[in-house]
Amino acid sequence: MSQTKRILVIGSSGQIGTELVEGLRARFGNENVVASDIKEPQVKQEGPFAMVDAMDRRGIERIVEKYEINEVYLLAALLSATAEKDPAFAWKLNMESLFIVLELAREGKLKKVYWPSSIAVFGPTTPKDNTPQHTIAEPSTVYGISKQAGEQWCAYYCKRYGVDVRSIRYPGLIGWKSAPGGGTTDYAVHIFHEAIKNGSYTSFLDRGTTLPMMYMPDAIRATIDLMEAPADQVKERTSYNLAGFSFAPEQIAAEVKRHVPAFTMNYAPDSRQAIANSWPRSIDDSAARADWGWKPKYDLKAMVDEMMVNLKQVLK
Ligand code: SER
Repeated sequence: MSQTKRILVIGSSGQIGTELVEGLRARFGNENVVASDIKEPQVKQEGPFAMVDAMDRRGIERIVEKYEINEVYLLAALLSATAEKDPAFAWKLNMESLFIVLELAREGKLKKVYWPSSIAVFGPTTPKDNTPQHTIAEPSTVYGISKQAGEQWCAYYCKRYGVDVRSIRYPGLIGWKSAPGGGTTDYAVHIFHEAIKNGSYTSFLDRGTTLPMMYMPDAIRATIDLMEAPADQVKERTSYNLAGFSFAPEQIAAEVKRHVPAFTMNYAPDSRQAIANSWPRSIDDSAARADWGWKPKYDLKAMVDEMMVNLKQVLK
């Protein structure tokens, strides 16, 4: 194993992966961050890229050996809405990929592992406001079940085998550099594209559906900060609650209207509404703040301002 930090991102072509690879390469050097996915990248690569299936243990091991990888960020997954369409495959992908990297770490082939969890670990019986780090978590989606089980496996591998695995329960993530991939919170990204292109948007979540959200630069910074924190500061070995800001569709619509005065929003809730209804409205992230110094930079207004400016350039 190389002494230099050598990172592999599995699932690098997705919404988080696209921006995380960029953030990691800026911090640790292009050549030290290998991107990998089953899909072509959304953006031009400034460093190595390898095609691999997250469930192909031999394929992943070959990449780890070839590039002398010592840290893996595993982002490949089916998200909440897509997973409901094929629960058996979602479970298989989300769990098998996790076991592959946990096992590689247990065998001493990796020093550190990052694995994302989600607010989807919570369910209808969870306290909805300021949801605590430790609380009732009875998820009602297959995605949530896979994340909750995965969290427990991470904690188990850490305790039993000393695997240094770290995790964040992301809220809905909003960014302009990459397209979202099948989540319940995707409306909060689509709205910008449609506002700029068509001046209107039909939201698949109804008015009043308040959900925890975060602007992507905050999420990327949190992820790298958590991975760079001294191991003894990382006390939660399931996954950390992380909060940015919360809003309902009509609130983000009002902010978008400041930039596109003629913007109109319609509401046509679909099956994703039930998923959203089962999730928290806001998150208590005091453990992340206390343990490794997490603090968000963006609120709703600052996020919308940056999204509009950047997406207008991109979509021109
Ligand atoms: N944003 C994700 C989703 O909606 C939650 O992890 O599926």
